[in-house]
Amino acid sequence: MLPFAELHLHLEGTLEPEMVFELAERNRVALPWRDADDLRGRYSYGCLQDFLDLYYANMAVLRTEADFAELTDAYLARAARAGVVRAEVFCDLQAHTARGVPAPVVLSGVADALGRAEADHGVSAGLILTFLRHLPAEDAARSYAEAIATGVDLLGVGLCSSEIGFPAAPFADLYARARADGLHTVAHAGEEGGPDSVWEVLEHLRVERVDHGIRAMSDPELVRHLAERRIPLTVCPLSNVRLRAVGELSAHPLPAMLDAGLVACVNSDDPAYFGGYLDDNIAAVTDAFGLTPDQVATLARNSIEASFLPAADKQRLLSTVPA
Ligand code: HPA
Ligand code: ZN
Repeated sequence: MLPFAELHLHLEGTLEPEMVFELAERNRVALPWRDADDLRGRYSYGCLQDFLDLYYANMAVLRTEADFAELTDAYLARAARAGVVRAEVFCDLQAHTARGVPAPVVLSGVADALGRAEADHGVSAGLILTFLRHLPAEDAARSYAEAIATGVDLLGVGLCSSEIGFPAAPFADLYARARADGLHTVAHAGEEGGPDSVWEVLEHLRVERVDHGIRAMSDPELVRHLAERRIPLTVCPLSNVRLRAVGELSAHPLPAMLDAGLVACVNSDDPAYFGGYLDDNIAAVTDAFGLTPDQVATLARNSIEASFLPAADKQRLLSTVPA
């Protein structure tokens, strides 16, 4: 099995319908769905916002430190079976504190599972705190301060949620602060928004990686910029199909991204909502595009290069990918 780094994964997006019901019962949260199948039957979305509405609603069942630890551990176990050896995962802390779950409950639960990831699952793991761009930057700054106060180790910061109509530039000061604190920086852009949205996170947030970025492909200068600087793009094919960012998988720009020399890698985004984990995404693009073993190995290599692992760890992992 090829070793992959998974770099675009929302922990809350790994909440499977069965776990929604299990946690609802344990925490006495009332749900508007009959059962897990009823809930799963509603996972058809017209756009990003349709999905986000359900994604935030389901989070209501996550209440305790143990809930967050179980969610994270279940993801790590499944990711390990998919060939993931490195996971840099997102947590939408603001979505939890906004509904009254304190930051230490959320982050201690997640960090507990991430801390055991290497020993329990053979996965090295890091945590990226994601800010919600539909909320004011001041909210995000408060959330950042709360996260730092927990003492939990952060690998980086990110930006997600609704893209169109919610500019990234207001988050520039917060990104500068995180960078000064020694954290890595990423941001969602170019999922529903166009190339300008990608330029915005590069210029204002100075991100090291772009999450999605598929719409960069319509701007040749941007493609050149990303390729020359080897700025990675964390692509999520099944997510893009489910959220209608592309019409169908065969129309996905992944092959064009690889042909352009971009450091594009494949990720699962919100696997419980989009029909598959990392291995399912790799299988789907391999099948849709008839990717050769060499092209799949390039995706594995790109994912490792795109990770925030120390150079020596990257070299060690890269040496295990067949040339
Ligand atoms: N896009 C933006 N925000 C998100 C996503 C996504 O695909 N998944 C979870 N939050
Ligand atoms: Zn995402």
